[in-house]
Amino acid sequence: MKNQAPDIKWVLNKKAVKDVTTSKEMFPVEVSRVARKFHRQIPGFKMTPLRSLSNLAHMLGAGGIWVKDEAVRLELSSFKVLGGSFAIYRFMQEKLNLPDSEMSYEFLTSKEAKDKLGEITFASATDGNHGRGIAWAASKLGHKCVIYVHSDTSLPRINAIKNNGAIVKVIEGNYDDAVRQIVIDANENGWEVVSDTSWEGYTTVPNWIMQGYTTMMAEIQEQFSSQGISKPTHVFVQAGVGALAAAVIGYYHSLFGQDAPKCIVVEPENADCLYHSAKQNDGQPHNIGGSLDTIMAGLACGEPSPIAWEVLKDCADAFMTCPDYLAAKGMRIYATPLAGDPMVVSGESGAVTLGALVAVLKENGAEELRDYLDINEDSQILFLNTEGNTDPVHFRQIIWEGADPVPKDFWSDETVK
Ligand SMILES: Cc1ncc(COP(=O)(O)O)c(C=O)c1O
Repeated sequence: MKNQAPDIKWVLNKKAVKDVTTSKEMFPVEVSRVARKFHRQIPGFKMTPLRSLSNLAHMLGAGGIWVKDEAVRLELSSFKVLGGSFAIYRFMQEKLNLPDSEMSYEFLTSKEAKDKLGEITFASATDGNHGRGIAWAASKLGHKCVIYVHSDTSLPRINAIKNNGAIVKVIEGNYDDAVRQIVIDANENGWEVVSDTSWEGYTTVPNWIMQGYTTMMAEIQEQFSSQGISKPTHVFVQAGVGALAAAVIGYYHSLFGQDAPKCIVVEPENADCLYHSAKQNDGQPHNIGGSLDTIMAGLACGEPSPIAWEVLKDCADAFMTCPDYLAAKGMRIYATPLAGDPMVVSGESGAVTLGALVAVLKENGAEELRDYLDINEDSQILFLNTEGNTDPVHFRQIIWEGADPVPKDFWSDETVK
């Protein structure tokens, strides 16, 4: 180990009282079942694989490394569609005033439902994947969609949203500016906002979105049980506004209470609003400003979702931040697996958690977090590959051309363990 100063930052969550009340309220087990039942009716819907990287696990001194591979979720290369589609389902259900038992996919796409609902335009801001998922779900269900992106959004990401039938507008500023603008314009135009982040007075839809993500968790638990594993011991989850992290961590705490896995939230170092909030240690969410410059486009958010924070402040065990090159390193580890392990196509936001763990296990100065994690041969570590190759140009630059290299000071000169 050559480096002395860790380039990762972390804070163990002193406020993690493990009060699971909010988790149980926001993620009741029955709602997961409803979400999964709806998702399963979508034509082409399949459970995504839970891939085992057993040789990497051995190399890192763990019992197992499991990767939920959302790169192959429908045709959208990301988990995000689970949330947006379930929120649209709930929205239609409210309008139609029907019980879950009568809310089939077939009915929702029928002329009868369309006549009752009229013409709806769903609208959202996005840093890419959420907008693509909403556009896809709206068009499948026969409705219109408007998506706002911020000025740093790459062309492939914009085109992917347009190709799913949405009108896309580029807003000057960052993701949080795009959120503010869509709310103003939706009010003027009568659009229905389907935002994955929440704010005062706007919490129902974001909670539906987070509940939609739990289909992924229900699948994971089914896949673990087929391997004789009751639950992971450690979960690393990446965060932008924190909705995904809260869904994952809330799901596990709702299901297992105090026996939930150790849960670590990972953010880019330049977009670390949750880490920053935990660091303040006053129980409140705190915003950060600026350009939020990072290659992890899906995680470039400066304002925590307040309802997500309610779960995270009580139940996340640690918050950590990573430089971009650890996301790029994670992508390369996934793309060039150890012999016998499967290859995983993982984009910047998908791969950062693996890069983060390797850094924790490897870097001098990370002892506090390493000791806390206590990774050993009984550990079953869960990662969520939340996106595949969603930005093909940048993906190739990283994997083929070696963009965002690990600085030489941080190169390994020994086996990782
Ligand atoms: C690929 C990917 N991973 C993770 C996230 C993080 O989700 P959240 O903003 O809910 O924290 C996003 C958000 O867009 C994403 O696109």
